Amino acid sequence: MNLLIIGAPGAGKGTVSDRIINDYELVHVSTGDMLREAVKNGTPVGLQAQGYMNRGELVPDEVIHDIIVERLSRDDVDAGFLFDGYPRTKNQAVDLDEILKQLDKKVDCVIDLDIDDEDLIKRITGRRLCPDCGEIYNIYYKPSKTEGICDKCGGTLIQRKDDNPDSLKVRLEEYHKNTQPVIEYYEKMDIVRHVDASMSKDEVYDSVKNILEGLY
Ligand code: AP5
Repeated sequence: MNLLIIGAPGAGKGTVSDRIINDYELVHVSTGDMLREAVKNGTPVGLQAQGYMNRGELVPDEVIHDIIVERLSRDDVDAGFLFDGYPRTKNQAVDLDEILKQLDKKVDCVIDLDIDDEDLIKRITGRRLCPDCGEIYNIYYKPSKTEGICDKCGGTLIQRKDDNPDSLKVRLEEYHKNTQPVIEYYEKMDIVRHVDASMSKDEVYDSVKNILEGLY
């Protein structure tokens, strides 16, 4: 089974993906996480991506193409993958179809996390992350027991550079202009399932699970 999860910044793609990979044998491929890792390690991809990411703009399609081709060349994706935050432009979606065709694979289902822009500000500005174990917190909705410290591993929580109101404005503009057409692209293939992402985390995941149970 090969899945895509699409949604605006803060819609809950990472949160839902963590639960999906806990319950299903899928490899989680998040272009956002891969790019942040590249920035942290100062790789050529990271150096190219950093400015775009901090401003909230999309990283150019050519850069994304290269990291996807490399990622899909690894054997672990044969069991099935869950793409989180990719494709984000119609060009990336067409490109992915071509890459997958060569690998004799296809996208089976696209989960679209639907939410109004106004609901996203607290999710984004309140988000804190553990850089050591990847746990996601939110100072409004899911605070850690001790402020700034990860409950799971004791790591020091950080805030993403693009989790501020100015970058969020740009990220939302990019989403509406470039990523919503991706949903329309997959709707023509009749593989999109919409989920109301304004509900609680458990309710959102219940809806996602219902969809997945119907596919497996
Ligand atoms: P990326 O890392 O993909 O960021 P994003 O799309 O902006 O999405 P987020 O990670 O901010 O949000 P999310 O939907 O995962 O929400 P989360 O679960 O964390 O991309 C970052 C940047 O990289 C892009 O701006 C771009 O520059 C670049 N990039 C990446 N991929 C690219 C591509 N393919 N092409 C070009 N450029 C690319 O949840 C958010 C918060 O809300 C958390 O605090 C969480 O606890 C909370 N929360 C989640 N669900 C709920 C709920 N149901 N109720 C209450 N709170 C909730």
